[in-house]
Amino acid sequence: MPWGCEQASLFLLLTAHLLVCFHSIKATETDPSLIPTDKLLVLTVATQETDGFHRFMQSAKYFNYTIKVLGKGIQWKGGDVANTIGGGQKVRLLKEALESFADQDDLVVMFTDSYDVIFAGGPEELLKKFQHANHKVVFASEALIWPDKRLADKYPVVRSGKRFLNSGGIIGYMPYIRQIVQQWNLQDNDDDQLFYTKIYIDQLQRERINITLDHMSRIFQNLNGAVDEVVLKFETGRARARNIQYDTLPVLIHGNGPTKIQLNYFGNYIPNAWTPETGCGVCDLDVTDLSAGSDYPKVTVGVFIEQPTPFLPEFFNRLLALEYPKDKMYIFIHNSEVYHEKHIQKFWEQAKSLIRKLKVVGPEEILSQAEARNMGMDICRQDEECDYYFSLDADVVLTNPKTLKTLIEQNRKIIAPLVTRHGKLWSNFWGALSPDGYYARSEDYVDVVQGNRVGVWNIPYMANVYLIKGQTLRSELKERNYFNLDKRDPDMALCRNAREMNLQREKDSPSADTFHMFRPPKGVFMYITNRHEFGRLLSTANYNTTHYNNDLWQIFENPVDWREKYIDVNYSKIFTENIVEQPCTDVFWFPLFSEKACDEIVEEMEHFGEWSGGKHNDMRISGGYENVPTDDIHMRQIGMEFEWLHFIREYIAPITLKVFAGYYTKGHALLNFVVKYTPDRQYYLRPHHDASTFTINIALNKKDVDFQGGGCKFVRYNCSIESPRKGWSFMHPGRLTHLHEGLPVTNGTRYIAVSFIDP
Ligand SMILES: *[C@@H]1O[C@H](CO)[C@@H](O)[C@H](O)[C@H]1NC(C)=O
Ligand SMILES: *[C@@H]1O[C@H](CO)[C@@H](O)[C@H](O)[C@H]1NC(C)=O
Ligand SMILES: *[C@@H]1O[C@H](CO)[C@@H](O)[C@H](O)[C@H]1NC(C)=O
Ligand SMILES: *[C@@H]1O[C@H](CO)[C@@H](O)[C@H](O)[C@H]1NC(C)=O
Ligand SMILES: *[C@@H]1O[C@H](CO)[C@@H](O)[C@H](O)[C@H]1NC(C)=O
Ligand SMILES: *[C@@H]1O[C@H](CO)[C@@H](O)[C@H](O)[C@H]1NC(C)=O
Repeated sequence: MPWGCEQASLFLLLTAHLLVCFHSIKATETDPSLIPTDKLLVLTVATQETDGFHRFMQSAKYFNYTIKVLGKGIQWKGGDVANTIGGGQKVRLLKEALESFADQDDLVVMFTDSYDVIFAGGPEELLKKFQHANHKVVFASEALIWPDKRLADKYPVVRSGKRFLNSGGIIGYMPYIRQIVQQWNLQDNDDDQLFYTKIYIDQLQRERINITLDHMSRIFQNLNGAVDEVVLKFETGRARARNIQYDTLPVLIHGNGPTKIQLNYFGNYIPNAWTPETGCGVCDLDVTDLSAGSDYPKVTVGVFIEQPTPFLPEFFNRLLALEYPKDKMYIFIHNSEVYHEKHIQKFWEQAKSLIRKLKVVGPEEILSQAEARNMGMDICRQDEECDYYFSLDADVVLTNPKTLKTLIEQNRKIIAPLVTRHGKLWSNFWGALSPDGYYARSEDYVDVVQGNRVGVWNIPYMANVYLIKGQTLRSELKERNYFNLDKRDPDMALCRNAREMNLQREKDSPSADTFHMFRPPKGVFMYITNRHEFGRLLSTANYNTTHYNNDLWQIFENPVDWREKYIDVNYSKIFTENIVEQPCTDVFWFPLFSEKACDEIVEEMEHFGEWSGGKHNDMRISGGYENVPTDDIHMRQIGMEFEWLHFIREYIAPITLKVFAGYYTKGHALLNFVVKYTPDRQYYLRPHHDASTFTINIALNKKDVDFQGGGCKFVRYNCSIESPRKGWSFMHPGRLTHLHEGLPVTNGTRYIAVSFIDP
């Protein structure tokens, strides 16, 4: 009779076995021949409480396993199992531990690794499957033979399933397990798997002790060499792994060898980390609470400006607006751009009296990005008082001021907030790695980025913004210089180092068998959280710093940030509330630009400085003659024509549709310019029509502050608007009805931006 029978499909296909299987499952609760769970003794070796160990214990707790942990706090002597043999210490510890159970021969002992193991099923299921195996001792199996390939021929042939022994999982009756481990008389750094293998391939011992392998992964699933056989399976309120090759649902999942990332992926779900019904089942475990009045930890913030970056003043404003006590913050800034020195200067003035400590390393130091990141991290590492290191790149827009506090409360060694490029699937993490260590898309990547699955996710790569515990920098990550690794990008180097702490001794692409099952404590998990909305990533591509106020040109590359900076906060009310005013017949008036937009456009024009002087002869326009000239600069002259036309299509066209119902503008405009009125140059404009279907006229500064006089008069209606509002725009028909004039400016300087639309 085949044991297992977990699958409905199996029942259907093998009708002859249907009753047998059904019966054995139904009998679970009452069958006296089943081993009660209090007879199960689970042992593991963990010399340190790594993240992987916590995950193992969490999954054990979920199923109510009781675990006896051996080796806690003692020094690991089992060798560097990553690339040599070793692990004998585990056998010795097991042997010693079993001695204290001398008179309990009715126990079933399971011995398993823990750093890279997750429980996917409970004790009843485990014991039932063990009983069905009908042997005294069952070892895990795998397709790869290790450590001695020459022993392959000695293994019994199997018709189906994995042929070779893996010592990461053993289950058996106490006396028989003891018979095995009592044979151990080797050194701690000798190889445990070789030891077990030699007993197993010895036919005499195999039969006498009655040992078998779990060939079909009914109990133990080793992922090495089997990654393609295992898929995630959701049951109600629970997740597990299914081996699709053998149609089994293994009880333990073991990320042996180079499959840690795959195991981490499974660990994001199994057994209850996330399911469609329950959402995240582990997000609120082990969290800390920074409630009001509690003593906030000290944080070193490393700010990195590694390329010309748009919206940097806004970045600094948000940094200061973080809801976190400023006297607990030490800010380290690395700026590699001369262009940004003016922004840093301004930030310095604002921040120096608020922040506990502020340090800036500028472009003159010529630090590489890796050196700068090492320097920032070292500041926290070497300061015993530094509780957290918060690394923040200047292209991160943290719209959520609680970000830092929220990350600290999540209480992980390394955690990043999810930030994405607006409207794109581009984010600051990778869910999987390609074989050469670059980006690969995990099956759940899109769901996590789009927030269809919400939780705290163990991931192999993160960048741009993350929080690391100071304690972790002084222990697991205490070796310095994490950002330098071959020629890797610094963030990739950091993540690789966090994942694989003994990296320097590894070859770059380890073949499967130079890696082996049990790794000494190291891997620190990196998490990304999407439990809250944190912000977005800027695009720094195509950021041209040859202008004066370069962010004005960012309407294509970073439209959300452009809008936030330059469009009036009340603009959207034009469409939701009746805020458009009509001071004269068919002259509409509405808020459009922010003060910043007005100021920066004026600055840009004055910086450019080539005012036309208001002459009739004008080589900038076709025909070369202007009938009603103004003292102006065209958008084209400062290289902003495309951006301005885009602005008209994005922000003006929708208003046109609202106020001139039925008229669809193509947003076409040949003349877009800023006019300057000032008493000693041109100070008014005689009545005229515009060469447009309609015109927009935006006031760029403030009456009675920047100038006196000014305004606009529509002659046909004998209607004047003498108090233009900064940032507000007029929209009126250009020809026939709206003959208008610019009223004289008597003092100061007045600026307006004008477009003749649909000429
Ligand atoms: C674990 O034990 C608790 C308390 O006895 C019980 O409520 C829970 O259902 C058990 N969990 C599982 C997975 O059996
Ligand atoms: C192994 O032990 C089981 C009982 O646990 C027994 O039924 C089976 O025949 C034994 N196999 C061998 C090869 O001795
Ligand atoms: C936006 O509108 C509100 C309410 O009408 C007003 O109080 C506020 O000053 C306006 N904001 C700006 C920047 O004009
Ligand atoms: C930046 O803008 C200037 C002025 O408009 C232009 O000459 C230059 O080609 C631009 N550079 C890039 C890289 O786009
Ligand atoms: C235009 O309006 C002004 C005051 O608003 C008034 O004094 C003047 O008489 C009007 N002119 C005509 C021609 O109606
Ligand atoms: C003209 O403007 C200047 C500064 O802008 C101001 O000091 C002065 O008082 C103004 N003159 C009049 C007549 O308003």
